[in-house]
Amino acid sequence: MKISVILGHPDEKSFNHAIAETAVETLRENGHDVAFHDLYREKFPAILPAEEIPRNAALPRIIRRHCAEIAAAEGIIIIHPNWWGQPPAMLKGWVDRVLRPGVAYTFTEGDSLGAGVLIGLLKANAVLVFNTSNTPPEREASVFGDPLELIWKNNMFVSCGARSYYRKTFGVIITSTLEQREKWLREVKEITSRHFPATPA
Ligand SMILES: Cc1cc2nc3c(=O)[nH]c(=O)nc-3n(C[C@H](O)[C@H](O)[C@H](O)COP(=O)(O)O)c2cc1C
Repeated sequence: MKISVILGHPDEKSFNHAIAETAVETLRENGHDVAFHDLYREKFPAILPAEEIPRNAALPRIIRRHCAEIAAAEGIIIIHPNWWGQPPAMLKGWVDRVLRPGVAYTFTEGDSLGAGVLIGLLKANAVLVFNTSNTPPEREASVFGDPLELIWKNNMFVSCGARSYYRKTFGVIITSTLEQREKWLREVKEITSRHFPATPA
């Protein structure tokens, strides 16, 4: 399967990078065709300019390439830390420029009532989101309403047509031991393999 892996974290020594390495390695071991983007290392141009907002806008080559890749992806993995209940701005910028109309979604015919119901265009069978956080999951859900779940699942990937969606948050990172982090990476491997098993040779 063609699988796009998108990482939004600026520090190469971060646990997010370790998650990405593990996921990419597992996908390759399982025989998948992986397109991996470390957005900070690649210096992805993350600001959506006004002229790119119209549906039929002319796009720069790098954005055309990302759009073509995500449209063709049969699986997608997104990896990032919880920053104020949101993805880092770099990754938000990737979403703004790449998950665009005509690529990730379109509107229903004659949406004259402004119902805002999208028709998803992504063909990805499975979407995985790996997050890290310093807030215990119960507090993230009860106090903040787990905004990352609303963003990635409800607002984005279900609207854009993903057939299956799974998100896992690892934490609390700041107090975690090496042993705990190694266990989490084994979990990353298991979750990745469960959703993207080895392809028959
Ligand atoms: C700008 C910024 C905002 C953050 N906001 C939150 C937050 O809202 N909730 C939270 O639990 N952790 C927050 N954190 C902590 C990160 O989630 C944490 O450092 C990260 O998940 C650890 O993983 P890493 O080692 O891969 O960076 C924030 C960190 C930064 C730098």
